[in-house]
Amino acid sequence: MAPNFGRRPQTLTTGWPFLPYGTRTPANWYHGWVKQTPSLPATPALPGQPVPMLDLKRQYLPLHQELLDAVGHVLDTQQFILGEPVAAFERKAASELGVAHALGCSSGTDALWLALAAAGIGPGDAVLTTPFSFFASVSSILRAGATPILADIDPATFNLSPQAAEAVLAASNPAPVRAVLPVHLYGQCADWTAFSRIGREHGLKLIEDAAQAWGAEWDGVKAGGLGDTAAFSFYPTKNLSAAGDAGMVATNSDEFAERVKMLRQHGMRRRYYHDEVGWNARMDGFQGAILSVKLKYIDGWNEARRAVAARYHALFAAAGLAEPGTYPAQGVVLPREVPGSRHVWHQYVIRTPRRDQLREFLAARKIGSEIYYPVPLHLQDALKSLGYTDGDFPEAERAAREVLALPIFPELREDEQHTVVAAIAEFLS
Ligand SMILES: Cc1ncc(COP(=O)(O)O)c(C=O)c1O
Repeated sequence: MAPNFGRRPQTLTTGWPFLPYGTRTPANWYHGWVKQTPSLPATPALPGQPVPMLDLKRQYLPLHQELLDAVGHVLDTQQFILGEPVAAFERKAASELGVAHALGCSSGTDALWLALAAAGIGPGDAVLTTPFSFFASVSSILRAGATPILADIDPATFNLSPQAAEAVLAASNPAPVRAVLPVHLYGQCADWTAFSRIGREHGLKLIEDAAQAWGAEWDGVKAGGLGDTAAFSFYPTKNLSAAGDAGMVATNSDEFAERVKMLRQHGMRRRYYHDEVGWNARMDGFQGAILSVKLKYIDGWNEARRAVAARYHALFAAAGLAEPGTYPAQGVVLPREVPGSRHVWHQYVIRTPRRDQLREFLAARKIGSEIYYPVPLHLQDALKSLGYTDGDFPEAERAAREVLALPIFPELREDEQHTVVAAIAEFLS
């Protein structure tokens, strides 16, 4: 059904804190009703205007009737767990990603565990991954009963470094490494040319943590179809997001898909006959229905993110703040899209030496920012038992001190970006 923008009550188009709504941004040409509203001229910084890190309402409002209809359909049919709403999403998602199977589940964390378990990873195995990611990239390996082994990151992309991974594979490890789990951090794929070669040469399973990378590509192949299996998160802040917790496993393997289906339902292939100890990791019908709606728009949203990132690049360059090289001296080093990759800019992350002071400065001006991630995983209290110490992964540790994510979402306006960059220029002056 086409989005029913015409039925949007007028009160919803006015009076929200993020007005002026209807401003033409690269994000909103996909909304017919926005197209009809007058576009503002390119606005310079509006000093004093707050800029949110993320404003989910801007995505929700143009879609609210379509989303309500989808949720209403789930209520009408009472298919609350898996069922047709989830199956319909799975079919569309698989076709969008170009994979044979997409399996909805309860979260990105559960998707990682399901992917590992489906790939046969368990006690006695080690899995190589990055220390610079969200906690679940490592905790899911522990939950699968395996041992996480870490290798440092590439400081230019913040993704797992293939060279560092190979060095770790060549060393002696506490358990045989059976899989590599690269994370497509911030919306950019890990170097898949290198990781597919490493996987082949060492006979390893490749498991993608694609939680932040719906629609990202490497050499024209979408994240989710690069490895043996992949995990997605639809946590509300993700670029493709549910209205609650939800996740998905993608794979081209019939065997893995069959195992994921079994494991997400308490290890049942036949009702109440349990072949293995699985878990309750099912997707609910509301999330499936909402995600089916959002799938129609995700390509446009990702395009809009790319346009927002390009504008940040241009604004920083015009302000003379962008420094060349990998590490910042006094200004900022901008994030980059590497050859072969199609970045979807889940986050726009700069590096800057006085990061914490800059963040406070922005916060005082009500400009959102975030640190992904302030403590690398090998230094987390919960992961002390892995036996790593300070200094083991210098690139991840330095990144944790220097990274700052700036506001980015499809509907972010040009004037808001001017405000962000002007505030950073003021701080650095
Ligand atoms: C890289 C990465 N992996 C895994 C996850 C876990 O996803 P979820 O929060 O849906 O469990 C997230 C999300 O926070 C993530 O960013």
